[in-house]
Amino acid sequence: MSQLNSINELFVSELSNVSNFTELFNLKAKFLGKKSLLVEQMAKLGALTPEEKKQLGLEINTVREYILKNLSEKQKELEELELVQKLNAQSIDITLPGRGFTRGRIHPITNTINELKNIFVRMGFSHVEGPEIEDDWHNFTALNINESHPARQMHDTFYMQNVEGLLRTHTSGVQIRYMEKNQPPIRIISSGRVYRSDYDATHTPMFHQLEGLVIGEEINFGHLKGCIAQFLKEFFRVNALPMRWRSSYFPFTEPSAEIDIKCDRSTKKEIRIGEGNDWLEILGCGMVHEKVLKNVGIDPMKYQGFAFGVGIERLTMLKHNIPDLRTLFEGDMRWHEIYGF
Ligand code: PHE
Repeated sequence: MSQLNSINELFVSELSNVSNFTELFNLKAKFLGKKSLLVEQMAKLGALTPEEKKQLGLEINTVREYILKNLSEKQKELEELELVQKLNAQSIDITLPGRGFTRGRIHPITNTINELKNIFVRMGFSHVEGPEIEDDWHNFTALNINESHPARQMHDTFYMQNVEGLLRTHTSGVQIRYMEKNQPPIRIISSGRVYRSDYDATHTPMFHQLEGLVIGEEINFGHLKGCIAQFLKEFFRVNALPMRWRSSYFPFTEPSAEIDIKCDRSTKKEIRIGEGNDWLEILGCGMVHEKVLKNVGIDPMKYQGFAFGVGIERLTMLKHNIPDLRTLFEGDMRWHEIYGF
């Protein structure tokens, strides 16, 4: 009896030291396994009287059951502890600030193009597109740009290697393509990427243009003026925008003009459109040259019209006071944030 008691006491004290599953396993082997203290006790049974056997057997069983019950309780306790530790290790701190996400936005150039399309569509123009890889005919010859014109030289134009073709230097080829397929009346705008070998604060080798073309029986220079005035007024949101029409030269228009608008450059920080005493060149235009009409099979004795072209980067820079054109294409989100794009 006293030996059983001490086994029991030993178990209780060792159990209290158990802190993991391995220790628990070892403890179980020590007290209930084949060479355990309890088995030692059971070996004694054979030498006892039936009465004593019954008595000791009962006592051994009581201790055994006590041990089993406590081992399984300890097992449960350890399992719960393990779960709690796991949960703590995996817990999510819901008080941490969120990672957030950045929202995609429309690029300022696309924005300007959309705005221009809206303005011209309200004036009855349709928007047409053409290929960026052009042939000599549509980019130059049909537009009355002869072989010796400087725009043809390598330093301006990107030519394809080994194949016929070039990267269009303006969107005027789209006009040619349209006129080849459609007879007047014509009222179209075309916009898109154009390419010239140039790179500084106001030039990138790729930039965007928007060009307009109107051909009809009665179209005259007055229509051109009215159209441009309306467009500039709407785009810059200046009511009476002073314009200066300077005579100019383009091979595909005659007469040709470049248009300046009034601006104020006296505050170093920004150019104010429609104020001050300075002039800013903004677009080129003119009456479509009769040779161009002949080239596309439109009768110049019956029809005439006007064309104009603007640089979209230029308009965007002016509207948002952006000093360096190149930043528009660097894709730096911090820059976009500063301008609120
Ligand atoms: N195509 C000319 C350019 O790229 C712009 C222009 C278009 C000028 C139409 C006059 C008329 O410079």
